[in-house]
Amino acid sequence: MSGEGVSFLGEPLPFSEYIELPNWRHRHVGIEAYREFWRRSVENHEDFWASVAREIEWFSPWEKVLEKGEHPHVYRWFVGGKINISYLCLDKHVRGWRKNKLALIWEGEPVDGKGEPREVRKFTYYELWREINKIAYMLKELGIKRGDKVALYMPMIPELPMMLLALARLGAIFTVIFSGFSAENLAIRINDLGASLLVTADGFYRRGRLINLKEVADKALESTPSIERVIVVKRAGNEVRMKQGRDLWLHEELAKTPAAAYVEPERMNSDDILYVLYTSGTTGKPKGIIHDHGGYAVLLNATMKWIFDIRDDDIYFCVADIGWVTGHSYIVFGPMIAGATLVMYEGSLDYPEPDRWWAMIERYGVSVFYTTPTAVRMLMRFGEEPVKKHNLSTLRIIHSVGEPINPSAWRWLYEVVGDSRCPVGSTWWMTETGGIMISHAPGLMLVPLKPGTNGMPLPGVDADVVDENGEPVKPGERGLLVIKKPWPGMPAPPTGMWGEPERYRQVYFEKIKDRGFFFSGDYAVKDGDGYIWVAGRADEVLKVAGHRIGTYELESALVSHKAVAEAAVAGVPDEVKGEVPIAYVVLKEGYKPGPEIAEELKRWVKESFGPIAVPSNVFFVSKLPKTRSGKIMRRLVKAVAVGKPLGDVTTLEDEAAVEEVRQAYEEFTKALRGQKT
Ligand code: WTA
Repeated sequence: MSGEGVSFLGEPLPFSEYIELPNWRHRHVGIEAYREFWRRSVENHEDFWASVAREIEWFSPWEKVLEKGEHPHVYRWFVGGKINISYLCLDKHVRGWRKNKLALIWEGEPVDGKGEPREVRKFTYYELWREINKIAYMLKELGIKRGDKVALYMPMIPELPMMLLALARLGAIFTVIFSGFSAENLAIRINDLGASLLVTADGFYRRGRLINLKEVADKALESTPSIERVIVVKRAGNEVRMKQGRDLWLHEELAKTPAAAYVEPERMNSDDILYVLYTSGTTGKPKGIIHDHGGYAVLLNATMKWIFDIRDDDIYFCVADIGWVTGHSYIVFGPMIAGATLVMYEGSLDYPEPDRWWAMIERYGVSVFYTTPTAVRMLMRFGEEPVKKHNLSTLRIIHSVGEPINPSAWRWLYEVVGDSRCPVGSTWWMTETGGIMISHAPGLMLVPLKPGTNGMPLPGVDADVVDENGEPVKPGERGLLVIKKPWPGMPAPPTGMWGEPERYRQVYFEKIKDRGFFFSGDYAVKDGDGYIWVAGRADEVLKVAGHRIGTYELESALVSHKAVAEAAVAGVPDEVKGEVPIAYVVLKEGYKPGPEIAEELKRWVKESFGPIAVPSNVFFVSKLPKTRSGKIMRRLVKAVAVGKPLGDVTTLEDEAAVEEVRQAYEEFTKALRGQKT
């Protein structure tokens, strides 16, 4: 079967291009063999996950593998088991032979413009364990205990993973807020969680610029009544305001702790909360997804082996930011459970030169590389020379994440970066799943690669592409990507979504009625071999350079500007970022459309939301297309944005009559005429 008619970013999907790696022969299996193994794993999925769970160390074993929680579709995994993820990441290694193994290599942003690192810090597992015990001791002295809530707003410095591990050790619940988010976004998350402590830093470097993070935090702190204390890490040495009685320097507090500080890891229940991570949905405020200690650790341990084939001589480099789920799972907890040596960096991929990553891969001998499609498309534009001038022969496995990878970007990664020797995969998962769900698994069994596919669902993961009734769609047809059975690492008790059990049910389990399937929000196609090709979001969520952003959030940011009456945001395809937002704006009485106000609104979004989602274009209209009940015709807006003809649009709006949509479409396109840039 071919991928005719199915394309992504204008490229047909090569359903029948099979690539086998000669050097991987010993673990290459036929598609049928994998499918058979997978079928058995999902049929007995509790037994399967129980056997996987035995591979990590529990303080005491579980009594029951899986149990329904008190709210619909919330499950408890490994009920009765006692565990602490920080123990798995640190103590277990320190007690064994990995004690003096390098755990973390951190590289600051090179500021001299010559590619020399500004600063490199390295920690063995033992050194990290000591640091983290000191931090945990200090936090305890400040009164932080099991179940307390803590917010982290920090750049990519070693103290960030250290904080995660120290808080996990104490059994405190933390939430990390991406350092590129605005004060408003920080405050929303702090207040939703009700955090009593905020940990932040003075500043950090990005593209040669100093970013004053504490200043942004201070702004948020004006409207976060639950915060009692702020701990500040000194990173950049910039001037900051410290509020007496509230703000403390980390290094000063650590100086007071005994050198031999040790804090016993809390004996957590498997399904106790480890963290809450906020992510964007279709409407409303961000959703706080809950992850636990036990099930999450089981999934991460397994996927580190299956997907990254992690071994003790590997140097592992994941380019994500810890502010997003990829950083939680595959910079901090996954690699450290696996006892890997991890490379982490501050700054940007193309500063001071577009070979920053390739230089780092060479410098540290990186063997397993986890990257993103947007980065690949961006770096492709510099040609092969920046890659080829470095020796990348240590690389053996490459994966990407965050958004679909178009076949040509995949080929570049495979041929130019991986020298046609390394398996290259596109791991599908999301904040909600906790870890990878669909991927090639070179550490387990490798089925032939295909450029741009996500591969097959992992063992134990009952993922499928279905129609609105939950029935599988035919191969090659687009459908909804679902997971049919619970999995370890799924949104955890008590409510799946922080404080919002009903919203949890409604967002993920209502789309397909009465089947109990978790709906991801993605469209996907399954080919004749059972490979899944995720085609992008089916809802109002954007993926801009892999960052997950709700159109609703951007619309709220726009409407908060004094000149804006109404706004609608839609995503349009972009060669590099995959997708970029464009905005349609209705101005208030007395404001005139024009390039100045368009620029002003872009600046406004940058400041009030964050720089990651500034609309590439702002169009002015006198009204937005709406249904009779006053709802914006979102699909129509989207269709107009991407230039779809009317024929495709009339059936799209659930709520409106065909004639109504037709009329709205015509009016809307007419209003936009002459505004295209
Ligand atoms: C998208 C990121 C295609 C998808 C880990 C999903 C992908 C959303 C892939 C979750 C991939 C992630 N191929 N699409 N390999 N990985 N996505 O929560 O739309 O930031 O629903 O988690 O990213 O984004 P999130």
